[in-house]
Amino acid sequence: MSLRGIAAAAGAVVCLGAVLWLARPEIQEWLDDSLASPGAAREAAAAGSATAAGSATDSPDATGAGGATGAGSATDRAETAGDAIAAGEYLARAGNCIGCHTRRGGAEYAGGRAISTPFGNVYSTNLTPEPETGLGAWSADDFWRAMRYGKSKDGRRLYPAFPYTSYTLISRDDSDAIFAFLKSLDPVRSARVEPDLRFPYGTKLALLVWRALYFEPRRFEPQPDRSAAWNRGAYLTEGLGHCGACHSPRGPLGGREADASYAGGNLPTVGSMEGPMEGWTAPPLRPGEPLSARDTDDLAALLKSGVSARRAVTGPMAEVVFHSLQHLRDDDIRAIVGYIASLPPLPREAAGAGTRVPARAGENLRVAGASVYAEHCADCHGRRGEGEAYVYPALAGNGQVTSASPANALRSILFGGFPPTTEANPRPHGMPPYSHQLSDYDIAAVLTFIRGAWGNDAAAVSPVDVSRR
Ligand code: HEC
Ligand code: HEC
Ligand code: HEC
Repeated sequence: MSLRGIAAAAGAVVCLGAVLWLARPEIQEWLDDSLASPGAAREAAAAGSATAAGSATDSPDATGAGGATGAGSATDRAETAGDAIAAGEYLARAGNCIGCHTRRGGAEYAGGRAISTPFGNVYSTNLTPEPETGLGAWSADDFWRAMRYGKSKDGRRLYPAFPYTSYTLISRDDSDAIFAFLKSLDPVRSARVEPDLRFPYGTKLALLVWRALYFEPRRFEPQPDRSAAWNRGAYLTEGLGHCGACHSPRGPLGGREADASYAGGNLPTVGSMEGPMEGWTAPPLRPGEPLSARDTDDLAALLKSGVSARRAVTGPMAEVVFHSLQHLRDDDIRAIVGYIASLPPLPREAAGAGTRVPARAGENLRVAGASVYAEHCADCHGRRGEGEAYVYPALAGNGQVTSASPANALRSILFGGFPPTTEANPRPHGMPPYSHQLSDYDIAAVLTFIRGAWGNDAAAVSPVDVSRR
C-alpha cells in the first residue's frame, strides 16, 4: 500500500471512530432495544427498583418507617390504575416536573416556561395529554425514550435543560407511573416555543457534540453493601431529584464535571429559573466535615419545610422545596439526607474569588457594619446573630453567610426573600430588600460584619463587588 493509501485508511479509521464516539447514546439505545426484548428490559429495571432503590409504592417497607403518610400496607398493595397514578404523581413531585413545566400564571404542566442557560433560553413543553401540543399521542415507550435517552417522540434530541442526564437513572416502572399520572391530567392546548439560543449553540451539531461529551444513558446500580435506605437516597438524589444539576460545577460547555460531584455550582447553567433566580450559587452538598445527628435532623427539617432551627432556604432552592421536597414522605427525605451525609467531605474552600480587601479597609468595613447591623438587622436576626428557630435564620454559623462565595448572602440582603410556603411553615416570615435603603458601602460593611462576627470566619467583601451586582 502506498503511503497515501495508508494515510487515507488511517483517516477513515479516525473518522469512523469519531462518528461512533459521537453516536454513543444512539448505539447504547439501539443495543438496549435490540439485545433485550422490551419485556425482559422492563423486568430487569423493575427488579432493580423493587429490590434496592424501591419505587414509591414499596419504599415504606424498605426502611420500615412507620407513620409515614400515604404508606399502604404490603397486603393491600393491589396494583390498580389509581395506585399507579398516585405513585406517578408522587414521583413527578420528586422530579419537580411541575416547577419547570408550568409557566407563571399558566396551567400546571402545560409548559412554556423559559429555562435560562448560559447560551440562551430553552422553553419547557406541554406535558398534559393534549393530542397535538402535549403528550396525548405519546406511548409509554415514547415517554421512556425521553426520560432515559433524552429524545422526543419524533427522534429529535432534547436540550439538557431538561435534566435527562439525571432522569436517565430512573426505573422503567417509575417512568410508566409518571406517564400514567400525566395522562390523567386535563388536556390543555399549549404550543411548543422554539428555543432562542445563540449561534452555534442552537444547532443540531452543537447538541450532538454536547451529548457525546456529557451524556450517557445509565442505569441505577444499587450498591449491595449499603442499606436499602441509602440506595433509595442515592436513587432519588442522583435520579429524579436531579440535585446535581445545580449543586455540581459545570465546565464551559455546561456539562457536569464528573469528579467534582456536589462540590457546588453557579446558576444559571441548567435548571435555573426565570428572572431573579439568575446569579445564585448552589452551595456544595458535600459536607465540610462529617455531619452529626443534630446536623442531619436540621437538614431534614430544612428540606421538608424550608426552615429549620438554624436556617432557611431561599431563591431557587425555595422553589425546589415548594414544588417538590415538601411533598415527599419523611422516610424519603431522610434517605436523601442520609445519602448526602455519606458523600465524601469536601476540603474547606480557600478565601472567596471576590476582590481582596486589605486588612485596614476590612477593619473599617467591620466597624461600620456593626452599626448597620444593630440598626437594621438585629431586631429579627438577634444581637448575637442567633435568630429565632423556624422564624428568622441564625446568621452565626450560617452556611450561606460564611460560604467562600458571598453571592447568595449578598442577594439575600439586596433583594430580600421568602422561604417557601410549606405545610409545616404555612406563613413564612420574609426578609426585606435593602438595595434601595442602604448604600453599596453599607451593604458591603454589614456583609463583612456578619461574615466575621460570632465565630464566623469568612473574608471581607468589597463595595466594588456589591456594585457589580
Ligand atoms: C429544570 C427544568 C425541567 C425539569 C425539572 C423537567 N423538565 Fe421536562 N423539559 C424541560 C425543557 C426545557 C424541555 C424542552 C427541551 C427541548 O425542547 O429540547 C423539556 C422537555 C421534556 C419532554 C419532551 C417533550 C417533547 O415534546 O419532546 C418530556 C417528556 C419531559 N420534559 C418530561 C419531564 C418530566 C416527566 C419531568 C419530571 C420528572 C420533567 N420533564 C422535569 C425542562 C424540565
Ligand atoms: C434549581 C437548582 C437547584 C436544585 C435542582 C437543587 N438545589 Fe439545593 N440549592 C440551590 C441553591 C441556589 C441553594 C442556595 C439557597 C440558599 O442559600 O438558601 C441551595 C441550597 C441547598 C441546601 C442548603 C445548603 C446549605 O449549606 O445551606 C441544601 C441542603 C440543598 N440545597 C439540597 C438540595 C437537594 C437535596 C436537592 C435535590 C433534591 C437540591 N438541593 C436541588 C439550588 C438547587
Ligand atoms: C423583618 C425581619 C428581618 C430583618 C429586618 C432582616 N432580616 Fe434577614 N432574613 C429574615 C428572614 C425571614 C430570612 C429568611 C428569608 C428567606 O429564606 O428567603 C432572612 C434571611 C437572611 C439571610 C439569608 C440566610 C439564610 O439562611 O437563608 C441573610 C444573609 C440575612 N437575612 C441578612 C440580613 C441582614 C444583613 C439584615 C440587615 C441589613 C437583615 N437580614 C434584616 C428576616 C429579616
